[in-house]
Amino acid sequence: MSQFHIAIDGPAGSGKSTISALVAENLQFIHIDTGAMYRAVTLAAIEKNIDLADESAYVFLETTDIKYVNDAIYLDGNDVSNLIRSDQVTSNVSQVSAHPYVRHKMVDIQRNAAKGEKVVMDGRDIGTVVLPNADVKIFLTADVLERAKRRYGEYLRKGRIERMDDVIEEIRVRDHKDSTRKESPLRKADDAIVLDTTYLTIDEVVMKIIDIVKKEHGYGL
Ligand code: DC
Repeated sequence: MSQFHIAIDGPAGSGKSTISALVAENLQFIHIDTGAMYRAVTLAAIEKNIDLADESAYVFLETTDIKYVNDAIYLDGNDVSNLIRSDQVTSNVSQVSAHPYVRHKMVDIQRNAAKGEKVVMDGRDIGTVVLPNADVKIFLTADVLERAKRRYGEYLRKGRIERMDDVIEEIRVRDHKDSTRKESPLRKADDAIVLDTTYLTIDEVVMKIIDIVKKEHGYGL
């Protein structure tokens, strides 16, 4: 089998990127974290000091190279995997990723990267817009409090002290922005399988997805 597409969508903090990377490693597929690509656009826009609200200012993307390779994100050849996790990028990425022009550019790159490949791609609109014919579509959910707890834990590990209430609010705000925007809002594809990860460990979710791929779609059997 030369091409096989696994689309994994879900809200902030559902564990998408970690889970997708592990599924890809297990199946020896390529992993593409599309959230990292929108974050890279946001970083570039901030560095260029453009007006983030002005869609026409993103024309710089015509001559900007954004690539996701081996779980690292490159902006014009530079590895910006750490820089895209800054607070400034996190608080502006919803606004940047809502511009149709930005989305069309990223979707083109994402589709080209998946063409002819075995890919696990994660994001918000993979099963609905980017790869509507994906072989397997998964929609990950987890309740807000659990997602906030995970995010709180990540912050602690990075030495960042936050109030739990603020983290819950941050997740709620991003959920609202991601699911109410006009262009490609976060939405479950009709044919996606929903996995609620609230009471599951990362490994349990990974194994469930691999089971779905192998049992229901016969991949590798
Ligand atoms: O998954 P993440 O938190 O790294 O994603 C960052 C932002 O990018 C998120 O707020 C929504 C946006 N995004 C998107 O609009 N479409 C995608 N396919 C992936 C992410």
